[in-house]
Amino acid sequence: MADPQEVLSRRVQSALGAAFGPEYGDTDPVIRPSQFADYQANAALALAKRLGRKPREVSAAIMEHLDVADVCSAVEVSGPGFINLTLRDDWISGRTRELLDDERLGVPAQERRTIPLDYSAPNVAKEMHVGHLRTTVVGDSLARTLEFLGHHVIRQNHIGDWGTPFGMLIEHLLEVGEDSPEAGLLTTDPNAFYQAARTKFDSSGPGPEEFAARARRRVVALQGGDGETLRLWNKLVGLSKVYFNKVYAKLGVTLTDDDLAGESTYNDLLADVCDELEAKGIAEISDGALCVFLDGFTGREGRPVPLIVRKSDGGYGYATTDLATVRYRVDDLKADRILYVVGAPQAMHFKMVWAAAREAGWLPDSVETTHVQIGNVLGADGKILRTRSGAPVRLMALLDEAVERAAAVVRENRPDLGEEEQAEIARQVGIGAVKYADLSVAHDTEYTFDFDRMLALTGNTGPYLQYAQARIRSIFRKGGLSPEGARADIAVGHGAERALALKLLEFGPVVAQVGDLLQPHRLSSYLFELAQSLTAFYEHCPVLSAATGAERESRLTLIALALRVLVQGLDLLGVEAPEHM
Ligand code: ARG
Repeated sequence: MADPQEVLSRRVQSALGAAFGPEYGDTDPVIRPSQFADYQANAALALAKRLGRKPREVSAAIMEHLDVADVCSAVEVSGPGFINLTLRDDWISGRTRELLDDERLGVPAQERRTIPLDYSAPNVAKEMHVGHLRTTVVGDSLARTLEFLGHHVIRQNHIGDWGTPFGMLIEHLLEVGEDSPEAGLLTTDPNAFYQAARTKFDSSGPGPEEFAARARRRVVALQGGDGETLRLWNKLVGLSKVYFNKVYAKLGVTLTDDDLAGESTYNDLLADVCDELEAKGIAEISDGALCVFLDGFTGREGRPVPLIVRKSDGGYGYATTDLATVRYRVDDLKADRILYVVGAPQAMHFKMVWAAAREAGWLPDSVETTHVQIGNVLGADGKILRTRSGAPVRLMALLDEAVERAAAVVRENRPDLGEEEQAEIARQVGIGAVKYADLSVAHDTEYTFDFDRMLALTGNTGPYLQYAQARIRSIFRKGGLSPEGARADIAVGHGAERALALKLLEFGPVVAQVGDLLQPHRLSSYLFELAQSLTAFYEHCPVLSAATGAERESRLTLIALALRVLVQGLDLLGVEAPEHM
């Protein structure tokens, strides 16, 4: 057990049980980092009321039973009744040894749960916007983290591949030609294709052979399962997949075609979803539409807001498909926990879908569903990020610009490296910077997209963390050594060594917390603090030129361990770790 907070918690809990009776044995001892020691236990303050005694008396009673001689070098009551706990240097060294020998670097292997994870979900024949970028990046980091914690993650890319726009898209495809350069736009600049179809539709005459009428007939044919129409639809989806996969490859995202589970895959289940809701008396016809009215969902003037599951024209919508996703994920995928990483504006949609699903008996209480809400990405003007002309920003262009900007910096800082190597570093840094910007702020808050800030080499940025690990690699290169070879005992006599070692021990608990709370920014903050501890360490503790051989070996081992934690941590975020920077 390498986590100091956990170890201290258990020890204080035993003391609580011994001092006040077994019913106190599972009280939260409130262990927190302390300004005056490594940690402090604040339990006495909360317990004083419950026990009707003064906090300092409670602390004294805890102290009498506290057995931490092997863990702490000093234990003191201070202030109104905090217990200050200073860890023994040899205890810290012992734990770093455990970490060194642990492939998982202290990250617990949790009880395996099956977790369908819905993320990315761009729309066919449309540009992926920065909102999709963010759900893709946050979702992928959660997938990596939950998998590392031992869970069975089932990625579900719920692409928008069905609905009325496909009528006009198919007609447009026919007009430009399936293998034309215009059709090819779908793989590079889908919005141009979409806009062209839209313009034709909007400016079409009313006649039965005009574009708009043909597009409408095409929707009917698509829904009716007409073979040729389905073939053309498949063509559109196929071209869009090429585009999605280009973006995923550029981003280094783990999604593959096997993870695609778009809206269309639920078509055959939708009628059944509606029938069952109706049969169970959960849905009713209102103004010709089949609706579910749920307790607690009211709009203006207290009027109930319906969840429409079948429109009056017989068509199904987004809600129906998502009811089907819940059923499928519970029944077929055997989910224990279901996560939807989707834009915050859809919060109401998911609340209603899940409430309806619970009522229908499709979502048992034992299965937890969570909407990991994704906040908007804003431009410098404080509005949703757009190009100057008001068009949505092309994601590919955005990523290319990040790499280009990083390339300019690399060329300037590392003229000694070859062109190819420079380009590779620029790619890792540029993409890493964009991804890290998404991951370093709470996923549900808005943030302003700012190239200069995300590419900066200082502050809580991707490049800063990438540099922190590259610097360790360069120390080993300079010494003609390999990090894997550093296996000495780690001494923590110096304050900066000690602080760095303690930081490293926090890695496992932080990763577990990210999996529980679904907040990758906690891992980012941790890695940032770790990088800062490293900077402070270098300031006070020479490594290659340490005073003695033993000190040098110890420090090399300490930074080798930090390198592993940084690389592993960045990998859980989905950010690459360049060899040089
Ligand atoms: N395609 C949708 C969009 O672009 C997101 C789908 C999210 N997943 C879901 N199961 N509803 O907003």
